[in-house]
Amino acid sequence: MRSIFINHQYVSEDAAKISVFDRGFLFADAIYEITPVIEGKLIDFDGHFTRLKRSLGELDMGLPMEREALLDIHRQLIRRNNIKEGLVYLQITRGVADRDFAFPPEQTEQTIVAFTQQKTLINNPAAVGGIKIITLADLRWGRCDIKTVQLLCASLGKMEAKTHGADDAWLLADGYVTEGTSNNAYIVNGDGVIITRNLSHRILGGITRKAVLKCAAELDMKVEERPFSPEEAKQAHEAFCTSATTFVMPVVEIDGHKIGTGTPGPVAKSLRKIYISESLKSAI
Ligand code: PDD
Repeated sequence: MRSIFINHQYVSEDAAKISVFDRGFLFADAIYEITPVIEGKLIDFDGHFTRLKRSLGELDMGLPMEREALLDIHRQLIRRNNIKEGLVYLQITRGVADRDFAFPPEQTEQTIVAFTQQKTLINNPAAVGGIKIITLADLRWGRCDIKTVQLLCASLGKMEAKTHGADDAWLLADGYVTEGTSNNAYIVNGDGVIITRNLSHRILGGITRKAVLKCAAELDMKVEERPFSPEEAKQAHEAFCTSATTFVMPVVEIDGHKIGTGTPGPVAKSLRKIYISESLKSAI
């Protein structure tokens, strides 16, 4: 059984319990982060830590622990659970208080939970053939830049994709793709230009997105950060998405329409390879 970190203790997963009055449970009043692990090391811990602080700040919550303490929890969990490849999930809630929409008047002690998941990331079979996606209305709230645990839209979107024989969904607002249910979305046009939506309140600023765009710049690939429509995506030569758990994932079909040759394209394939090797160099 896995060892879980909960409220300053490491306990077995069957003993990890949380109050029914936790605001994370009642109001999704909580922030999370997912940091990938390769070769037993954390990929871009500092990127995830920086976004965690920002998300907490946007909800008027403090950081209950400093970087070093959080890093130690991540490393302890990797060690205790013998994770070579997978992820560390961290969630921080506003804490426990009697149910009321307004924040509790007195500062509550924040709940901190962290656990690991073993997962094949590098040799993920989905990356070999690429994934199929459908497009769906983006029904989320207006602050998708904050990494909250309100994930029902993503969950329903993935179920709808499954019903249609696809792997995932890209979300549409005002006729343009915002992002994937749990990833950032990209297309590559005939001139080799990578197009991905610009950062705003409409999308999560992916930590993988930032690293992949840096790799693209170093490779002298052209990038345009702007909205694109599903029609433009269907005409693209390539499509892909990025996240901490999929890295660069080629997309080979959108709404039943083959993208390019219907196989992972060269830009996605080389960015995946370079992202993994660069990430490993700075893993801690
Ligand atoms: N999801 N957009 C959304 C809506 C996401 O949920 C995620 C991450 C991303 C990519 O962000 P990053 O590159 O920092 O992982 C973009 C995680 C992996 C999840 O909820 O499982």
